[in-house]
Amino acid sequence: MAKKIHVNGKLVTVSADDATPLLWVLREHLELTGTKFGCGIAQCGACTVHLDGQPVRSCVYPLSAITENQKITTIEGLSEDTNHPIQQAWAALDTPQCGYCQSGMIMACAALLDSNPNPSDDDINSTITNICRCGTFQRVREGIHLAAEIKAGKKVAKEMNSEQTETTNAVEFFDPNAASEQSSNALYTEVKA
Ligand code: FES
Ligand code: FES
Repeated sequence: MAKKIHVNGKLVTVSADDATPLLWVLREHLELTGTKFGCGIAQCGACTVHLDGQPVRSCVYPLSAITENQKITTIEGLSEDTNHPIQQAWAALDTPQCGYCQSGMIMACAALLDSNPNPSDDDINSTITNICRCGTFQRVREGIHLAAEIKAGKKVAKEMNSEQTETTNAVEFFDPNAASEQSSNALYTEVKA
């Protein structure tokens, strides 16, 4: 049956059975394939989207539970040009590995920052229950802390120079101890009070 829902700022009509999980409405009916299928039983978080700003696991959220007035936001609608603080921090720290879990992870982390602008590691550990098979949890925590500073205006992006954007086939080696320092400062600079 046809139903109107609000997705990424647009009112759209979908023709799907009422029992269809939102995940499949987004992916199959609206071609918003950034939201991923992982477990299908609300365990992994790969399918996380926002419903009125709250993170929900869309694989178990039936179309029947959504009203026309509720606002759904997917990874495609999180920001206009991928400049949400979480997205900026993820790019600066190379947070994803394979990337499969990361659209759900980013949506969960963005919702956390909306409700808690400066979360502690304990806050993050208890709130972000998304599963990453690649084990990016440490970089996710670092990314949330950096995103909190970006969102608060304490850190801003440096201009990239032409050398930084050049690609090379050469394999580069680096000191991992220096790398964490470098990764948190390379693309961002402190804003002095
Ligand atoms: S696919 Fe929805 S929680 Fe895993
Ligand atoms: S980055 Fe590979 S599953 Fe999370």
